[in-house]
Amino acid sequence: MSKKILVTGGAGFLGSHLCDKLLAAGNDVLCVDNFFTGRKENILHLLANPRFELMRHDVTFPLYVEVDQIYNLACPASPVHYQFDPVQTTKTSVHGAINMLGLAKRVRARILQASTSEVYGDPEIHPQTEDYWGRVNPIGIRSCYDEGKRCAETLFFDYWRQHKVEIKVVRIFNTYGPRMHPNDGRVVSNFIVQALKGENITIYGQGTQTRSFCYADDLVDAMIGMMGSDKDLTGPVNIGNPGEFTMLELANMVIRLTGSKSQIIFMPLPQDDPKQRRPDISLAKSKLGWEPKIQLEDGLKETIRYFKNKI
Ligand SMILES: NC(=O)c1ccc[n+]([C@@H]2O[C@H](COP(=O)([O-])OP(=O)(O)OC[C@H]3O[C@@H](n4cnc5c(N)ncnc54)[C@H](O)[C@@H]3O)[C@@H](O)[C@H]2O)c1
Repeated sequence: MSKKILVTGGAGFLGSHLCDKLLAAGNDVLCVDNFFTGRKENILHLLANPRFELMRHDVTFPLYVEVDQIYNLACPASPVHYQFDPVQTTKTSVHGAINMLGLAKRVRARILQASTSEVYGDPEIHPQTEDYWGRVNPIGIRSCYDEGKRCAETLFFDYWRQHKVEIKVVRIFNTYGPRMHPNDGRVVSNFIVQALKGENITIYGQGTQTRSFCYADDLVDAMIGMMGSDKDLTGPVNIGNPGEFTMLELANMVIRLTGSKSQIIFMPLPQDDPKQRRPDISLAKSKLGWEPKIQLEDGLKETIRYFKNKI
């Protein structure tokens, strides 16, 4: 049955893909965004759809709308953007969560929080399972994001315990794909843009740190699966791709797929940069019947195609 669905951060990278899929399934979608990192071009193709509505709004302020479901994605996700105005980043996570949970409570909507693997900080266990509490620096330059997201999770669980709001929390691991912001400093977009421009590819540290990369389509399927799951499944549930690659492997794959002549250069590691991160997705597999389908090489080809058109 068609639902009225609010997507905060809907003009961003993941939010816009989510809007696409929710509309394709016959729902009405209200996209709320303050366009801090989101872009109109991400949703331009949806503006003529009568089931789609766009509202410029900052989630740090209350919002009164009638909806059945809320996907709360509003928050800058890359270090360059979330460190640009760290106080606003924490406000977006914390006040944004309070406002959206308040709305969910009032209109009895189910609400999903886009949390992050950053809640695990620089982890001592590998891969990370949902019951691991994390190792986060509370006063570092990444803390506005990490602690903001941790506090948002706390709020979600308190609204669930105290007010019986139907919550869903997913912890998203590195995700990539078309519509990533070209200047957001995230490794996949960085490498692709550098390779396409024939510039040096910058690796921080020695390139031995590993990351896992999930393609946006896979990720959005998991979010929708989580929203539709049993009432009792609150999460947190890890979603991501457990395939692990070193930065050096990724750089070489991007160079090969773009046919670039770029050279790899090495720079010092930034503060608090995790050495490895890989999701344990057993819970998502067993409870949602979900696992990623798209191989890194195939996802990279699509993403490269997107950036080629943009550059
Ligand atoms: N992409 C990833 O790898 C990843 C990993 C972990 C978690 N996440 C989470 O998923 C969500 C979406 O991430 P993304 O990669 O699409 O990033 P993004 O920056 O492209 O999207 C975030 C969106 O939120 C909007 N926004 C920011 N502050 C706002 C505010 N105060 N009010 C209203 N809108 C606001 C931005 O304009 C943007 O459209 C974020 O919450 C992020 O923390 C993403």
